[in-house]
Order: sequence, then C-alpha cells, then structure tokens
Amino acid sequence: MKITLSVIKADIGGYVGHSESHPECLAKAEEAMARAKKEGLLVDYHVTKCGDDIQLIMTHEHGEANEIIHKLAWDTFVACTEVAKKLKLHGAGQDLLFDAFSGNIKGMGPGVAEMEITERPSEPVIIFMADKTSSGAWNLPLYKMFADPFNTIGLVIAENMHDGFAFEVHDVKEHKKITFNAPDEIYDLLIFIGAPARYPLKAVYHRKTGEVAAVSSTQKLAMLAGRYVGKDDPVCIVRSQGIFPAVGEVLEPFARPFLVEGWMRGSHHGPLMPVSVADSLPTRFDGPPRVAAVGFQLAQGKLIGPRDMFADKSYDKARDMANEMAYMMRDHGPFEPHRLPLEEMEYTTMPQVQKKLADRFEPLED
Ligand code: F6R
Ligand code: MG
Ligand code: MG
Repeated sequence: MKITLSVIKADIGGYVGHSESHPECLAKAEEAMARAKKEGLLVDYHVTKCGDDIQLIMTHEHGEANEIIHKLAWDTFVACTEVAKKLKLHGAGQDLLFDAFSGNIKGMGPGVAEMEITERPSEPVIIFMADKTSSGAWNLPLYKMFADPFNTIGLVIAENMHDGFAFEVHDVKEHKKITFNAPDEIYDLLIFIGAPARYPLKAVYHRKTGEVAAVSSTQKLAMLAGRYVGKDDPVCIVRSQGIFPAVGEVLEPFARPFLVEGWMRGSHHGPLMPVSVADSLPTRFDGPPRVAAVGFQLAQGKLIGPRDMFADKSYDKARDMANEMAYMMRDHGPFEPHRLPLEEMEYTTMPQVQKKLADRFEPLED
C-alpha cells in the first residue's frame, strides 16, 4: 500500500507575541482535519504545534504535491487565521503570503515536507519541528544521522546500512539541486551543507534500495516574500529502524545542541534546544530556537502515536547546555557571531539603513 505522509505548517498568528500557538486556533485546525478524514480525503491526521507554528501531519493516498491536499492545508490555515484575527493574535496570517490558493502550497508561505512510501511491516517515523530558525537547520543533524559513524553506529555494523546514503542538496539562490553519495563524497557534500543558509538538505535516500529516508521543508520565507516576514521554522520527516538509523540514532544529534540562525527577529545565531511539544515556547529573547519531535508507527496509514520524543530526562543535560550557550551568545549583544553575518541580514533592516546613509559614505583617501 502506497501512503503519503504530508507535513504542512504555518505561523498564522502567535500568542503572546511569537511565543506560542493559541488553543482556539489549534482546535480550528483539528476541526478541519477531522472533517477531511470523515470525508475520506485523509487516512489519518495529527494536529500539533511548535511554538507559534501550527503543524498539520496528514496521511493520504493522493501522492506528493497533490492539489487537493495542499488546498485542504491552505484552507485550514485560512480558517485558523480568521480565529487569530478575532483574538487579535500577533502577526495573524503572517505566513500566508497570497490572498488565494493557486494549485500548490509550496511557494505560498507555509513549509512543506512530504514523502510517498510503501509502508514496511514496521514503519516508525519521526517528525521534527523547529521554531525560530531557518530551513537548513536540519543539515547538521541529518549529516550526523546518515553519514557520521560516531553518531550512527549502524553505518558501521549494520550490513543493510553499510553502503551509505545519498544526500539531495538544494541551492536556494540559484534554484538548483545536486545529489552526493556518502560516505564516498562526504568532503564535497560538507563544503556545501556546512553553509546551510544557502544549501539546505532537501532529502536523504538509502543508496542500495533508493528508498527515501528523510525529507525536509526548504521553503525560504524571506526569499519568497522579498523581505523579512518571519523565520522558516522548518520541519523534517525521518524514517527509522531496519535499513534506516534506529530511533536512538535519529535523535542522538540533538543531544549536543548546535548553533542555528534565527532567534530574535530572525537575525541571530543561537543554540537549538530539544524540548517536548509542551515546552516549545520560545520566550527568552524570543528563543532560544526550539526543536520538538513527534514519533509515530504507521499502520495502513494510521498514525499510531504521537510519542513526544524529547519529553525524556536524558535530554535535560542538552537543555542545560543550550541555556549555557544562549548566555554565551547573548553576551555578544548586537555583535557577530551572535548577530548574523551581513549577507544573511539582507532581508532585515540592513538595506534600509544602507539606503538612508548612502550619501554620507565618502571615498577613502588612500
Ligand atoms: C523570530 C520572531 C520574533 C520577531 C520579533 C519581532 O522568528 O518571530 O523574534 O521577529 O518578536 O516581531 P514583530 O516584528 O512581529 O513585532
Ligand atoms: Mg510568529
Ligand atoms: Mg514560528
């Protein structure tokens, strides 16, 4: 049985400020999803949130980039926006960049990650959701999961993973893509994905079988809108066990927090803190950036779960470390490397300030 797992998310308004999703908006999304399931459009669904982003996790038999499913997600976000407007939530409708739906939700603001798969006898999937960061935040953890034997021992000792994985990398500026094979091409791969703002990892494939292992959302909100409207707050679907890394190997990269771009005004570097869904409440300096993970077993498309994967004591230390890192970064105030490098600031206030001061810049004498 072929089943498509679609994760479509949007920030349709925050409460309070950009820190959380309002229960009434989530209830509205739940209502729309329940209706779609009853009508037979969806096999199953789960509505959740990460900070101020509403997450629609859907299973269906319509394939990827399907107009009906994308329109369902769009209409759901429009309905949630109406609730957000009524409650005067902050930034109501902020990720919906267009007035009307036009065939494919990609490019319209919301983030999208989808995979069509033939369900295995056991099909564990983990859906990662981040808030206050950009697409590209998954580069480091996906590399560790699928290419780093210090993270994933299965790459070394599990015969069915020993041939490695293929990584699809996007160039968001040139609108191009390239695929690298790991482990043979990891040095070439790393030179690109080590610059995640430009080269986000879109997908990972099991080389021997061609099976899709992971898919992420790579929509760049600022590039779509031509100005800063909010961070991408990306999602990522990862299949686990068997020919893929075990659940513990999939989660392991987040035990050691790393720096991502985002945080306050989308203009800072800060640690990505792994948290439970309930704790996805970016508050301190609008952050620090968060990642939550929900796990499911698929059963004929039914979402058995969720299990809140970071609601576990063994991530307490990672959260402490992230808080320490947050203090260290915050001490830099408006200075790099806390503040993003100039090129990354191009969608924030920098162009306006440059324009305002253009005729005050004089040539250097020597
Ligand atoms: C970052 C984020 C927030 C806002 C900040 C200003 O992704 O969403 O840090 O950028 O709170 O928000 P506005 O411009 O809506 O007042
Ligand atoms: Mg917001
Ligand atoms: Mg958000």
